[in-house]
Amino acid sequence: MNFHGRTSYTPMNQSSRVYIAGHCGMVGSAISRRLQTSGLTQLLTCTRSELDLLNQSAVNRFFANEKPEYVFLAAAKVGGILANATHPAEFLRENLLIQTNVIDAAYRHGTKKLLFLGSSCIYPKFAPQPIQEDSLLTSALEPTNEAYAIAKIAGLKMAQAYRQQYGFNAISLMPTNLYGPNDNFDPESSHVVPALIRRFHEAAQCNAAEVTLWGSGTVRRELMHVDDLADACVFLMQNYDQPEIVNVGTGEDVTVQQLAEMIGEITHFRGRIVQDTSKPDGTPRKLLDVSRLTALGWRAHIPLREGLEQTYGWFVAHIANATAQHRRTASSAPYESDFSPKGTT
Ligand SMILES: NC(=O)c1ccc[n+]([C@@H]2O[C@H](COP(=O)([O-])OP(=O)(O)OC[C@H]3O[C@@H](n4cnc5c(N)ncnc54)[C@H](OP(=O)(O)O)[C@@H]3O)[C@@H](O)[C@H]2O)c1
Repeated sequence: MNFHGRTSYTPMNQSSRVYIAGHCGMVGSAISRRLQTSGLTQLLTCTRSELDLLNQSAVNRFFANEKPEYVFLAAAKVGGILANATHPAEFLRENLLIQTNVIDAAYRHGTKKLLFLGSSCIYPKFAPQPIQEDSLLTSALEPTNEAYAIAKIAGLKMAQAYRQQYGFNAISLMPTNLYGPNDNFDPESSHVVPALIRRFHEAAQCNAAEVTLWGSGTVRRELMHVDDLADACVFLMQNYDQPEIVNVGTGEDVTVQQLAEMIGEITHFRGRIVQDTSKPDGTPRKLLDVSRLTALGWRAHIPLREGLEQTYGWFVAHIANATAQHRRTASSAPYESDFSPKGTT
Protein backbone atom coordinates (compact mmCIF):
# COMPACT_ATOMS: atom_id res chain seq x y z
CA MET A 1 0.00 0.00 0.00
CA ASN A 2 1.34 3.44 -0.85
CA PHE A 3 0.78 6.26 1.61
CA HIS A 4 3.17 8.71 -0.06
CA GLY A 5 1.75 12.20 -0.30
CA ARG A 6 -1.08 11.47 2.15
CA THR A 7 -2.38 14.91 3.08
CA SER A 8 -6.10 14.80 3.94
CA TYR A 9 -6.88 14.58 7.65
CA THR A 10 -10.11 14.18 9.58
CA PRO A 11 -10.15 14.82 13.35
CA MET A 12 -10.85 12.01 15.83
CA ASN A 13 -14.46 11.25 16.62
CA GLN A 14 -16.09 9.01 19.21
CA SER A 15 -15.76 5.86 17.09
CA SER A 16 -12.14 6.47 15.97
CA ARG A 17 -9.67 3.67 16.64
CA VAL A 18 -7.05 5.26 18.90
CA TYR A 19 -3.89 3.51 20.10
CA ILE A 20 -2.26 4.84 23.26
CA ALA A 21 1.28 3.44 23.41
CA GLY A 22 2.39 3.39 27.07
CA HIS A 23 -1.13 3.52 28.55
CA CYS A 24 0.08 2.11 31.90
CA GLY A 25 2.46 5.04 32.40
CA MET A 26 1.75 8.43 33.92
CA VAL A 27 1.16 10.25 30.62
CA GLY A 28 -0.48 7.38 28.72
CA SER A 29 -2.94 6.68 31.54
CA ALA A 30 -3.87 10.38 31.70
CA ILE A 31 -4.47 10.44 27.92
CA SER A 32 -6.64 7.30 28.24
CA ARG A 33 -8.71 8.94 31.01
CA ARG A 34 -9.08 12.11 28.94
CA LEU A 35 -10.23 10.22 25.83
CA GLN A 36 -12.65 8.08 27.84
CA THR A 37 -14.13 11.23 29.35
CA SER A 38 -14.71 12.51 25.80
CA GLY A 39 -16.66 9.34 25.01
CA LEU A 40 -14.17 7.59 22.69
CA THR A 41 -15.05 3.93 22.75
CA GLN A 42 -12.38 2.26 20.60
CA LEU A 43 -9.21 2.79 22.62
CA LEU A 44 -6.48 0.27 21.78
CA THR A 45 -4.04 -0.54 24.57
CA CYS A 46 -1.43 -3.25 25.21
CA THR A 47 0.72 -3.90 28.23
CA ARG A 48 4.45 -4.39 27.69
CA SER A 49 4.03 -8.14 28.08
CA GLU A 50 1.36 -8.18 25.36
CA LEU A 51 3.38 -5.99 22.97
CA ASP A 52 7.03 -5.15 23.57
CA LEU A 53 7.62 -2.00 21.54
CA LEU A 54 11.33 -2.85 21.21
CA ASN A 55 10.28 -5.67 18.91
CA GLN A 56 9.87 -4.27 15.40
CA SER A 57 8.08 -7.24 13.86
CA ALA A 58 5.65 -7.49 16.79
CA VAL A 59 4.87 -3.77 16.45
CA ASN A 60 4.27 -4.18 12.70
CA ARG A 61 1.97 -7.14 13.33
CA PHE A 62 0.01 -5.16 15.88
CA PHE A 63 -0.49 -2.25 13.47
CA ALA A 64 -1.36 -4.58 10.58
CA ASN A 65 -4.00 -6.34 12.70
CA GLU A 66 -5.45 -3.45 14.66
CA LYS A 67 -5.13 -0.58 12.13
CA PRO A 68 -5.20 2.30 14.61
CA GLU A 69 -6.32 5.56 12.98
CA TYR A 70 -4.73 7.81 15.61
CA VAL A 71 -1.68 7.14 17.78
CA PHE A 72 -0.51 8.82 20.99
CA LEU A 73 3.11 7.74 21.45
CA ALA A 74 3.55 7.97 25.24
CA ALA A 75 5.73 4.88 25.65
CA ALA A 76 9.36 5.53 26.48
CA LYS A 77 12.11 4.66 28.89
CA VAL A 78 11.84 7.53 31.38
CA GLY A 79 13.79 8.29 34.56
CA GLY A 80 15.38 10.86 36.84
CA ILE A 81 18.95 12.19 36.89
CA LEU A 82 20.49 9.12 38.54
CA ALA A 83 18.86 6.63 36.18
CA ASN A 84 19.77 8.74 33.13
CA ALA A 85 23.37 9.23 34.23
CA THR A 86 23.99 5.56 35.04
CA HIS A 87 22.09 3.88 32.16
CA PRO A 88 22.71 6.08 29.10
CA ALA A 89 23.01 3.10 26.74
CA GLU A 90 19.54 1.82 27.66
CA PHE A 91 17.97 5.29 27.47
CA LEU A 92 19.41 5.79 23.99
CA ARG A 93 18.75 2.32 22.59
CA GLU A 94 15.26 1.71 23.98
CA ASN A 95 13.90 5.14 23.13
CA LEU A 96 15.31 5.04 19.59
CA LEU A 97 13.80 1.58 19.05
CA ILE A 98 10.37 2.30 20.56
CA GLN A 99 9.80 5.52 18.63
CA THR A 100 11.29 4.23 15.36
CA ASN A 101 9.17 1.07 15.48
CA VAL A 102 5.93 2.89 16.32
CA ILE A 103 6.31 5.88 13.97
CA ASP A 104 7.32 3.69 11.02
CA ALA A 105 4.57 1.10 11.62
CA ALA A 106 1.96 3.86 11.98
CA TYR A 107 3.03 5.33 8.64
CA ARG A 108 3.14 1.95 6.88
CA HIS A 109 -0.25 0.76 8.15
CA GLY A 110 -2.31 3.84 7.35
CA THR A 111 -2.54 5.71 10.66
CA LYS A 112 -4.10 9.11 9.96
CA LYS A 113 -2.17 11.01 12.60
CA LEU A 114 0.45 10.38 15.28
CA LEU A 115 1.40 12.49 18.28
CA PHE A 116 4.98 12.06 19.53
CA LEU A 117 5.93 13.08 23.06
CA GLY A 118 9.37 14.59 23.48
CA SER A 119 10.62 16.41 26.53
CA SER A 120 11.99 19.79 27.58
CA CYS A 121 15.42 18.15 28.07
CA ILE A 122 15.92 18.27 24.28
CA TYR A 123 16.89 21.93 24.68
CA PRO A 124 20.47 23.14 25.28
CA LYS A 125 21.65 23.33 28.87
CA PHE A 126 22.13 27.10 28.64
CA ALA A 127 19.16 27.95 26.40
CA PRO A 128 17.82 31.49 27.04
CA GLN A 129 14.83 31.42 29.42
CA PRO A 130 11.94 31.00 28.90
CA ILE A 131 12.97 28.39 26.33
CA GLN A 132 11.59 28.90 22.84
CA GLU A 133 11.13 26.03 20.39
CA ASP A 134 13.75 27.70 18.16
CA SER A 135 16.45 26.95 20.77
CA LEU A 136 16.60 23.34 19.58
CA LEU A 137 20.14 22.34 18.50
CA THR A 138 21.66 25.78 19.10
CA SER A 139 24.25 24.58 21.68
CA ALA A 140 25.31 21.69 23.93
CA LEU A 141 22.85 19.57 25.95
CA GLU A 142 22.86 18.85 29.70
CA PRO A 143 25.41 15.99 29.90
CA THR A 144 23.54 13.92 32.52
CA ASN A 145 20.59 13.19 30.23
CA GLU A 146 22.24 13.64 26.86
CA ALA A 147 21.50 10.08 25.68
CA TYR A 148 17.77 10.44 26.42
CA ALA A 149 17.67 13.90 24.82
CA ILE A 150 19.45 12.71 21.66
CA ALA A 151 16.89 9.90 21.30
CA LYS A 152 14.02 12.37 21.71
CA ILE A 153 15.57 14.76 19.17
CA ALA A 154 15.84 11.83 16.74
CA GLY A 155 12.14 11.12 17.36
CA LEU A 156 10.93 14.62 16.57
CA LYS A 157 13.23 14.76 13.52
CA MET A 158 11.81 11.43 12.35
CA ALA A 159 8.26 12.81 12.68
CA GLN A 160 9.27 15.87 10.64
CA ALA A 161 11.08 13.78 8.01
CA TYR A 162 8.11 11.39 7.57
CA ARG A 163 5.84 14.42 7.16
CA GLN A 164 8.19 16.04 4.64
CA GLN A 165 9.01 12.95 2.57
CA TYR A 166 5.85 10.83 2.93
CA GLY A 167 3.15 13.35 3.87
CA PHE A 168 2.60 11.46 7.16
CA ASN A 169 0.71 13.60 9.67
CA ALA A 170 2.95 13.41 12.75
CA ILE A 171 3.18 16.17 15.34
CA SER A 172 5.59 16.53 18.28
CA LEU A 173 5.00 18.04 21.72
CA MET A 174 7.70 19.01 24.21
CA PRO A 175 6.18 18.85 27.70
CA THR A 176 7.73 20.47 30.73
CA ASN A 177 8.31 18.50 34.01
CA LEU A 178 5.15 16.55 34.81
CA TYR A 179 3.65 15.09 37.97
CA GLY A 180 0.39 13.35 38.88
CA PRO A 181 -1.30 9.96 39.38
CA ASN A 182 0.66 6.92 38.17
CA ASP A 183 3.97 8.75 38.50
CA ASN A 184 7.08 6.76 39.38
CA PHE A 185 7.71 7.05 43.14
CA ASP A 186 10.74 4.75 43.18
CA PRO A 187 13.50 6.63 45.12
CA GLU A 188 16.17 5.37 42.70
CA SER A 189 14.64 6.68 39.48
CA SER A 190 11.93 9.26 40.26
CA HIS A 191 11.65 12.93 39.24
CA VAL A 192 11.60 15.83 41.70
CA VAL A 193 7.89 15.91 42.66
CA PRO A 194 7.35 12.19 43.38
CA ALA A 195 10.77 12.03 45.07
CA LEU A 196 9.84 14.89 47.42
CA ILE A 197 6.33 13.55 48.06
CA ARG A 198 7.74 10.21 49.09
CA ARG A 199 10.49 11.70 51.28
CA PHE A 200 8.21 14.18 53.06
CA HIS A 201 5.50 11.57 53.52
CA GLU A 202 7.95 9.10 55.07
CA ALA A 203 9.49 11.85 57.23
CA ALA A 204 6.01 12.91 58.42
CA GLN A 205 5.05 9.32 59.22
CA CYS A 206 8.03 8.83 61.53
CA ASN A 207 8.03 12.40 62.93
CA ALA A 208 11.53 13.05 61.53
CA ALA A 209 13.12 16.29 62.72
CA GLU A 210 14.34 17.32 59.27
CA VAL A 211 14.36 16.63 55.55
CA THR A 212 17.52 17.48 53.62
CA LEU A 213 17.23 18.94 50.12
CA TRP A 214 20.04 18.47 47.61
CA GLY A 215 21.52 21.84 46.59
CA SER A 216 20.58 25.38 47.60
CA GLY A 217 16.85 25.10 46.87
CA THR A 218 17.04 28.27 44.74
CA VAL A 219 16.86 26.59 41.32
CA ARG A 220 13.54 27.14 39.57
CA ARG A 221 11.38 24.47 37.92
CA GLU A 222 8.16 24.54 35.92
CA LEU A 223 5.75 21.75 36.89
CA MET A 224 2.57 20.68 35.14
CA HIS A 225 -0.12 18.23 36.23
CA VAL A 226 -0.33 15.32 33.81
CA ASP A 227 -4.09 15.82 33.31
CA ASP A 228 -3.29 19.25 31.85
CA LEU A 229 -0.78 17.62 29.50
CA ALA A 230 -3.37 15.01 28.44
CA ASP A 231 -5.83 17.79 27.69
CA ALA A 232 -3.18 19.59 25.60
CA CYS A 233 -2.40 16.33 23.73
CA VAL A 234 -6.04 15.87 22.74
CA PHE A 235 -6.36 19.55 21.84
CA LEU A 236 -3.31 19.42 19.56
CA MET A 237 -4.32 16.08 18.04
CA GLN A 238 -7.57 17.79 17.01
CA ASN A 239 -6.28 21.24 16.13
CA TYR A 240 -2.62 21.23 15.09
CA ASP A 241 -1.15 19.91 11.83
CA GLN A 242 2.26 21.52 11.42
CA PRO A 243 5.84 20.18 11.45
CA GLU A 244 7.10 22.61 14.10
CA ILE A 245 7.42 21.23 17.62
CA VAL A 246 5.18 22.74 20.33
CA ASN A 247 6.19 23.39 23.95
CA VAL A 248 3.59 22.36 26.53
CA GLY A 249 3.87 23.91 29.98
CA THR A 250 2.21 26.23 32.45
CA GLY A 251 4.45 29.24 31.72
CA GLU A 252 5.17 29.58 35.48
CA ASP A 253 7.91 28.21 37.73
CA VAL A 254 8.73 27.89 41.46
CA THR A 255 11.96 27.40 43.41
CA VAL A 256 12.69 23.90 44.69
CA GLN A 257 12.54 25.39 48.20
CA GLN A 258 8.98 26.69 47.56
CA LEU A 259 8.02 23.31 46.12
CA ALA A 260 9.47 21.48 49.14
CA GLU A 261 7.62 23.78 51.56
CA MET A 262 4.34 23.20 49.72
CA ILE A 263 4.81 19.42 49.76
CA GLY A 264 5.88 19.57 53.42
CA GLU A 265 2.56 21.29 54.27
CA ILE A 266 0.48 18.91 52.18
CA THR A 267 2.10 15.82 53.76
CA HIS A 268 1.78 17.32 57.31
CA PHE A 269 5.55 17.26 57.83
CA ARG A 270 6.34 19.23 60.99
CA GLY A 271 10.16 19.25 60.94
CA ARG A 272 12.73 21.54 59.30
CA ILE A 273 13.84 21.67 55.67
CA VAL A 274 17.64 21.75 55.43
CA GLN A 275 19.72 22.47 52.30
CA ASP A 276 22.81 20.38 51.55
CA THR A 277 24.77 22.93 49.49
CA SER A 278 27.62 20.46 48.94
CA LYS A 279 25.32 18.69 46.45
CA PRO A 280 24.91 20.01 42.88
CA ASP A 281 22.04 22.36 42.04
CA GLY A 282 21.56 21.43 38.38
CA THR A 283 20.36 23.91 35.75
CA PRO A 284 19.40 27.18 37.53
CA ARG A 285 16.13 27.61 35.69
CA LYS A 286 14.03 25.59 33.25
CA LEU A 287 10.92 27.34 32.02
CA LEU A 288 9.31 26.78 28.63
CA ASP A 289 8.06 29.59 26.45
CA VAL A 290 4.48 28.50 25.76
CA SER A 291 3.46 31.36 23.49
CA ARG A 292 3.09 29.06 20.44
CA LEU A 293 0.64 26.86 22.37
CA THR A 294 -1.20 29.83 23.85
CA ALA A 295 -1.60 31.33 20.37
CA LEU A 296 -3.22 28.07 19.26
CA GLY A 297 -5.84 28.56 22.00
CA TRP A 298 -4.79 26.25 24.87
CA ARG A 299 -3.51 26.94 28.38
CA ALA A 300 -3.01 24.91 31.57
CA HIS A 301 -5.78 24.98 34.19
CA ILE A 302 -4.65 23.01 37.26
CA PRO A 303 -2.97 25.20 39.95
CA LEU A 304 0.23 23.66 41.40
CA ARG A 305 -1.03 23.42 44.99
CA GLU A 306 -4.28 21.73 43.91
CA GLY A 307 -2.42 19.33 41.63
CA LEU A 308 0.05 18.38 44.36
CA GLU A 309 -2.76 17.74 46.86
CA GLN A 310 -4.52 15.48 44.37
CA THR A 311 -1.28 13.64 43.60
CA TYR A 312 -0.51 13.16 47.28
CA GLY A 313 -3.99 11.70 47.74
CA TRP A 314 -3.27 9.26 44.92
CA PHE A 315 0.11 8.35 46.42
CA VAL A 316 -1.42 7.60 49.82
CA ALA A 317 -4.23 5.55 48.29
CA HIS A 318 -1.76 3.50 46.21
CA ILE A 319 1.23 3.50 48.54
CA ALA A 320 1.49 -0.28 48.61
CA ASN A 321 2.28 -0.34 44.90
CA ALA A 322 3.44 3.22 44.19
CA THR A 323 6.70 2.32 42.48
CA ALA A 324 7.50 1.74 38.84
CA GLN A 325 8.26 -1.86 39.74
CA HIS A 326 4.77 -2.48 41.01
CA ARG A 327 3.07 -0.73 38.12
CA ARG A 328 4.12 -3.52 35.77
CA THR A 329 1.16 -5.70 34.82
CA ALA A 330 1.60 -9.31 33.77
CA SER A 331 -0.51 -10.60 30.89
CA SER A 332 -0.49 -12.81 27.81
CA ALA A 333 1.90 -12.06 24.91
CA PRO A 334 0.15 -12.47 21.54
CA TYR A 335 2.54 -10.12 19.66
CA GLU A 336 5.76 -11.30 21.26
CA SER A 337 6.56 -14.67 19.77
CA ASP A 338 9.78 -13.81 17.88
CA PHE A 339 11.26 -11.31 20.31
CA SER A 340 15.01 -11.33 20.95
CA PRO A 341 15.75 -10.87 24.66
CA LYS A 342 16.82 -7.37 25.75
CA GLY A 343 20.40 -6.47 24.91
CA THR A 344 20.95 -9.22 22.34
CA THR A 345 19.90 -7.44 19.13
N1 LIG B 1 7.34 12.33 33.33
C1 LIG B 1 7.69 13.54 32.92
O1 LIG B 1 7.96 14.46 33.73
C2 LIG B 1 7.76 13.84 31.45
C3 LIG B 1 8.12 15.15 31.07
C4 LIG B 1 8.22 15.44 29.72
C5 LIG B 1 7.94 14.48 28.78
N2 LIG B 1 7.59 13.23 29.17
C6 LIG B 1 7.38 12.24 28.10
O2 LIG B 1 6.13 11.60 28.23
C7 LIG B 1 6.22 10.26 27.79
C8 LIG B 1 5.67 9.33 28.86
O3 LIG B 1 6.35 9.54 30.07
P1 LIG B 1 5.78 8.99 31.46
O4 LIG B 1 6.24 9.92 32.51
O5 LIG B 1 4.35 8.65 31.33
O6 LIG B 1 6.64 7.66 31.62
P2 LIG B 1 6.22 6.29 32.36
O7 LIG B 1 5.26 6.56 33.45
O8 LIG B 1 7.50 5.59 32.68
O9 LIG B 1 5.45 5.50 31.22
C9 LIG B 1 6.11 4.99 30.11
C10 LIG B 1 5.30 3.86 29.58
O10 LIG B 1 6.01 3.30 28.47
C11 LIG B 1 5.93 1.90 28.57
N3 LIG B 1 7.07 1.25 27.94
C12 LIG B 1 8.39 1.50 28.12
N4 LIG B 1 9.11 0.64 27.38
C13 LIG B 1 8.22 -0.17 26.74
C14 LIG B 1 8.36 -1.25 25.86
N5 LIG B 1 9.57 -1.69 25.47
N6 LIG B 1 7.25 -1.84 25.39
C15 LIG B 1 6.03 -1.43 25.78
N7 LIG B 1 5.83 -0.40 26.61
C16 LIG B 1 6.92 0.22 27.10
C17 LIG B 1 5.98 1.63 30.07
O11 LIG B 1 5.51 0.35 30.30
P3 LIG B 1 5.59 -0.32 31.74
O12 LIG B 1 4.40 0.19 32.46
O13 LIG B 1 5.57 -1.76 31.44
O14 LIG B 1 6.89 0.15 32.34
C18 LIG B 1 5.08 2.73 30.58
O15 LIG B 1 3.74 2.32 30.56
C19 LIG B 1 7.70 10.00 27.48
O16 LIG B 1 7.92 10.13 26.10
C20 LIG B 1 8.40 11.13 28.18
O17 LIG B 1 9.58 11.52 27.52
C21 LIG B 1 7.49 12.88 30.49
